[in-house]
This record gives sequence, structure tokens and C-alpha cells, in this order.
Amino acid sequence: MSAGDTLAAPQPVAAPVIRAPLGLLAELTHRCPLACPYCSNPLALEDRAGELDTAAWTRVFNEAAELGVLQTHLSGGEPLSRRDILALVAAAHDAGLYTNLITSAIGLDAARVAALRDAGLDHVQISLQDTVAGSADVIAGYDGAHARKLAAAAAVRDAGLALTVNAVIHRANIERLEAMVDMAAALGAGRVEVAHAQYYGWALRNRAALMPTRAQVEVATATLARLRESYDGRLVIDAVVPDYYARYPKPCMGGWASRSLNITPSGRALPCHAAETIPGLEFWNVRDHSVRDIWLHAPSFNAFRGTDWMAEPCRSCARRDVDFGGCRCQALAIAGDATATDPACALSPLHDHLLALAEADAQTAEIRYAYRGRREPAAG
Ligand code: SF4
Ligand code: FES
Repeated sequence: MSAGDTLAAPQPVAAPVIRAPLGLLAELTHRCPLACPYCSNPLALEDRAGELDTAAWTRVFNEAAELGVLQTHLSGGEPLSRRDILALVAAAHDAGLYTNLITSAIGLDAARVAALRDAGLDHVQISLQDTVAGSADVIAGYDGAHARKLAAAAAVRDAGLALTVNAVIHRANIERLEAMVDMAAALGAGRVEVAHAQYYGWALRNRAALMPTRAQVEVATATLARLRESYDGRLVIDAVVPDYYARYPKPCMGGWASRSLNITPSGRALPCHAAETIPGLEFWNVRDHSVRDIWLHAPSFNAFRGTDWMAEPCRSCARRDVDFGGCRCQALAIAGDATATDPACALSPLHDHLLALAEADAQTAEIRYAYRGRREPAAG
């Protein structure tokens, strides 16, 4: 599909009309106190000197809202590392966006929560690495992180802000999936995201240490189904499936350049987190183009929009509008071709290869993480 100039209200419409995005992931900074081995940020992080300033982000929030974006996720890295975080929250709020802070919670005390709420923050998402403090701190690469997160979650709840707990699941904590959901409920979260690790960016480097066994995934899937029943009406449980063991791939990003966009700390506009791993894509920067111009015309956004780019078996598959051929970045990482069917799909000729990779990784006896830069690998 080629990009036209037409922009529809955010509901599905026939090609070639492009529907407006719903969400904006604003990666305010790549600086972060944690060193999670499953980090999906790129291997080479952007530095502080290149970060967009307050005025540039304010313009981005206004342009996004004008385009039809309804919510922004202030993310990173750790967004609280930005000294102007209150001004940024206020700018997003004033633009009319529902404003969610995705945080490690390091540095988030009751006073800061109150200030953020008063600036217009609507929602906080805190990551939990495990329910056992020792293990959680090893996974985060930060001593004392777990206790700080629990205190911050209580402060968020006491301030009357909506809370989501994000629990990234992998081999070191998958046996405590139920305990993590129970902990989220006890912390007063209205939603918990149970997200199996996705292998992009730094996470791909740690895949062997993170990959659970197929048996563990099957137990976790059954546990999740049971928890959804028992928490029905009290806690929303979202799940990101471990697609290395799946029959069909996940509908990554809800379809390429279909529902949301990412802006990196330096202003590069990406259709997804890992898009920069795909060679040959041209990324536009919000310093040079409006958000609307990027959404409609940036070559990277139009590269895999719709279904015209698909090859077989996706091209003639009944599920092509369901999962959109899976993940372009995973296709690139495993098949070496971003236009290929995601190898997570059973119809991909590389599906058995992907499964073999997962099963070999899951047999790795010792869990040793590679942390970004500052730490030696440690046993978990
Ligand atoms: Fe999805 Fe493509 Fe597999 Fe069909 S062949 S299920 S569209 S990934
Ligand atoms: Fe890039 Fe899935 S992460 S398309």
C-alpha cells in the first residue's frame, strides 16, 4: 500500500486510507539505573547530549494529539532521569493526551508521585522482576531495587493514580508467575502485564539465559488461564505470549505503522522498538518533520504497512489481517530477511529452526546474564 494524504479517524478503514495512530511511545532518555538482561532497547544507546529538549517534546505531544493520538507512554530508559519530567508530563497532559509513566520506580517517592499527579499524570506502570527480592535485584542488576519498587507502588496507589504492574517472564522467574500476579493485586494494581521476554535489542544477547523450556511455558499458559478466571472483574491480566513455542506469531505492534509510533530520545521516529535493526530503512526525525508528515510519508513507516509487501505464505494466508505476518524484526533476526514470514509461524520454513534454537537455549544449565557495560555476568 502506498501512503496517501488521507487520514481517517482511528477505526479500521479500507486501503489506501491510513488510520490515525492511537499511541505514542515517547522514549525520553536511554539513561536507566537498572540493567535488565531482557532490555529491548538497542545495543548502542543514545546519549544524553542528543536528547530532545522540553520544547521539542512539547511540540511532538501537540502534533501527536492533533493527528489523533489518544495516549502517550513516557518511557526510556528511565523517564524520571529527565530533570524536566514534570514539565514533560504537563505538556503531554495539556496536549490532551492520557499520560502513562513507564518507570523502574527507582527515585519515585511519595513526594515525586504527588508532583507528577499534580502535573497531570494519569497512570503509572512499574516493572517487577520477581517476587523474591534477592532474585529480583539480580535480574534488575541493582541492589535494593525490589524494595524500592514495592514502596513506590504503594505511593502510587495512595496518590490515587492508576497502576499497572509489568512482569517480564523468563526462565529465572517463570515458576513464580502466579506469585507475581498475586503481588500485583496486593499492590493495588488494576492491570498486570505478563509479558514473556521478547528477543530484540539487548535481550537477544541474553536469549540463552532467558529462554524457558517448553514445559515451563505450557504450565505458565495454563496458570495464566486459571488466574484470569479467578481475578475476573478484579484485575485485568494482559499477556504477551512466548512465540518461540507458538503455532502462530504475535501481531507485532498490532500491525506495522498501524496503531502507534515510537520516538527515540534523539527524535528518530520508529514504527517499532527494534526497527533500526532492519537494514535499508530510512528513519525521519521529529526535528525535521511533523508527526503527521512522518506517520503518512516516512519511508520506514510505509515499508511494511498493510499487506502488499508480503510474500508467500503470508500473501495468500487467511490470517494475514490477524497477525500481519508476525514481527518484521524477528523475521530479520532469524531469517535474515525482514520481508519473510515470521519464523514463529508454523507455516514458515524456518519454524523448526526457531523451535530448535529455543529448545537448545532452554537447556543451558547455568543462568549467566550479560549486563549492559557496567557489570560482569553473574549467576542467577
Ligand atoms: Fe500469519 Fe503469515 Fe503465518 Fe499466515 S503465514 S499465519 S499471515 S505469519
Ligand atoms: Fe519490530 Fe516486531 S519488534 S516489528
